[in-house]
Amino acid sequence: MTGSYYVCGRKLRCGWYRCVYQHRYVHDLIVKVAKKDSCAKNENEYKVWQKYKHFPVSQLLCPCVEYVPGSYIVTKRCSPMPDWPAHVVQSYIEQFKNLGFSDVQREDLGVLSGRLVMVDYAIPNVKLEKFVSPVFVTLVE
Ligand SMILES: Nc1ncnc2c1ncn2[C@@H]1O[C@H](COP(=O)(O)OP(=O)(O)OP(=O)(O)O)[C@@H](O)[C@H]1O
Ligand SMILES: [Mg+2]
Repeated sequence: MTGSYYVCGRKLRCGWYRCVYQHRYVHDLIVKVAKKDSCAKNENEYKVWQKYKHFPVSQLLCPCVEYVPGSYIVTKRCSPMPDWPAHVVQSYIEQFKNLGFSDVQREDLGVLSGRLVMVDYAIPNVKLEKFVSPVFVTLVE
């Protein structure tokens, strides 16, 4: 895809729609390159991130740091989910589904800074306002 050659390092994995590469220069980033020009997943994922990045639910999304239209997105690099028992994995999957993510698979989740996050959330018009995290207020006298 146009321009992605300059930022892509080693290929990590290919999904159905996109191939994921290590970022060539920055260790904790990855690059997702659409396999076909017509693929809207990168644009959709970037739009979801832009819409929710200041909402509490952003804690559950792998951040997108760059979008080059028609070409690729750059996101934070996550580790795979630990080798937890199947019922534990399933309970996390159910919790993500309850928030509004459809059809969550184990591969859609990764670990970033000790948190479980979605790495594949290219869902057009997804509604994620349901998630509310506790608000901590520090009082200064
Ligand atoms: N931020 C990330 N950090 C580390 N690995 C990732 C990241 N994003 C994706 N991956 C890996 O690459 C795989 C493919 O990525 P992704 O699911 O986003 O692409 P896709 O084309 O939508 O794939 P599919 O159609 O199979 O869901 C993921 O299942 C995951 O293993
Ligand atoms: Mg996927």
